[in-house]
Amino acid sequence: MTRTYFALPGNEAFTDTLCRHDGMRGRLELRSFPDGESHLRFPDDVRGADAVLVCTLDRPDGKTVPLLLAAAALKDLGADRVGLVAPYLAYMRQDKRFRPGEGISAQYYAALLSRSFDWLVTVDPHLHRIASLDEVYRIPSRVVHAAPAVAAYIREHIADAVLIGPDEESAQWVKAVAEQAGVPFTVLTKVRRGDRDVDVSVPDVDRHRNRTPVLVDDIISTARTMIETVGHLHALGMRPPVCIGVHGVFADDACGQLREAGVADIVTADSIAHETNRIALAGLVVEGIRALAGEAAGG
Ligand code: R5P
Repeated sequence: MTRTYFALPGNEAFTDTLCRHDGMRGRLELRSFPDGESHLRFPDDVRGADAVLVCTLDRPDGKTVPLLLAAAALKDLGADRVGLVAPYLAYMRQDKRFRPGEGISAQYYAALLSRSFDWLVTVDPHLHRIASLDEVYRIPSRVVHAAPAVAAYIREHIADAVLIGPDEESAQWVKAVAEQAGVPFTVLTKVRRGDRDVDVSVPDVDRHRNRTPVLVDDIISTARTMIETVGHLHALGMRPPVCIGVHGVFADDACGQLREAGVADIVTADSIAHETNRIALAGLVVEGIRALAGEAAGG
């Protein structure tokens, strides 16, 4: 059955690109009442639809209620299935009780979404202490890896790169990108003491002095991880680095601060719409949707 894709606000461009590869675009009207509550309407008949809501979940708190209302309305109006494409999946970093009394929000948020959707496709969720989405999501899910697209970008745009991963958590991912791009890599150690208080080890890149350092991370949020590393590279007399993030969350003025730190370029994938988007993910996401649905590629 042809899938019908509905964009939550801000996801229109990504949804249009998905629809160039798969299915068709459906209409969802969403606005706020004067009191701030959401009003939504599906103006076309959705009975029997294989529906997909597209909503990237950075800054999730304001997006989650309209998303859950839209999923509930689709079911109520007779859609057969309701899937979620969330190119960036929220709350994955709160995967442990770091201090007594804290909530493990990754679990609670997963339970919330699992109640409303039949399936989930996302891109490189922050899997650290949670090894697989299946540990917290009770619905079928598919993780799309951005590594091939990141590696292709590096191969095509950055001559003589050396990749630098910020922490052990990134090691597997950075290794995969480096191997696919055919360039050397190193992985640092990181200690985070607070939201904006991060220590990163000094990269051992002396033998790569004639290469362009490329910092790669799954998420750029406050950018403190990258800014600390850029400082080390400047002190070592390396070339200004290129910073690549899959998910450019960019809290407050993080992007401006990273530019001011002295970087050659900042590049992100388009999981979150931002001026730094240069790596397209929709083709890989459609492959993930089709694989989850058990269809042959190109079907
Ligand atoms: C966490 O371990 C992630 O992989 C990133 O390194 C982290 O989210 C980056 O955060 P920030 O930009 O706030 O330093």
